Amino acid sequence: MAVLEIRRYPDPVLKKKAGPVEEINGELQALIDNMVETMYAAPGIGLAAPQVGETKRLIVVDVSTKEEKHPLLVLINPVIISFEGRIDSEEGCLSVPGYTSTIKRAERVLVRGVDREGRPMEVEATGLLARVLQHEIDHLDGILFVDRMSPIKREFFRKRYLKRNKR
Ligand code: NI
Repeated sequence: MAVLEIRRYPDPVLKKKAGPVEEINGELQALIDNMVETMYAAPGIGLAAPQVGETKRLIVVDVSTKEEKHPLLVLINPVIISFEGRIDSEEGCLSVPGYTSTIKRAERVLVRGVDREGRPMEVEATGLLARVLQHEIDHLDGILFVDRMSPIKREFFRKRYLKRNKR
């Protein structure tokens, strides 16, 4: 296993729409293992394949804390089947380090996909898990949380962020 490089905004790969995973093979299993290791090393609570430069519909999520354990979720070709409620909460992203913003998202979602063995999987989520799933699935469509801010806030973010991260 290996810790992969996490691509950062404004890397163009983050804006691409990812294609569906068509075959679950050894190469994909290795990518999954590396993404899990990369997420834990960051540390983060979710990672989408485009964040490590792979435009595939694949996410890994683990919202565990010291106090509360949750299972590691590996979701291939995830789709949000239903949304319920709206709630504001603070959000950040490993691809936009050092920046957070309040983002409105559904309070509850039902997500369908397949697990790493190719078995159909359904996840009903609320709270932080619902938010992370929406955030990671957005990555598969080339959408970052900053794209969900108001245009004024986004422009302000862009100027400030790019200035600070100039190389
Ligand atoms: Ni993110």
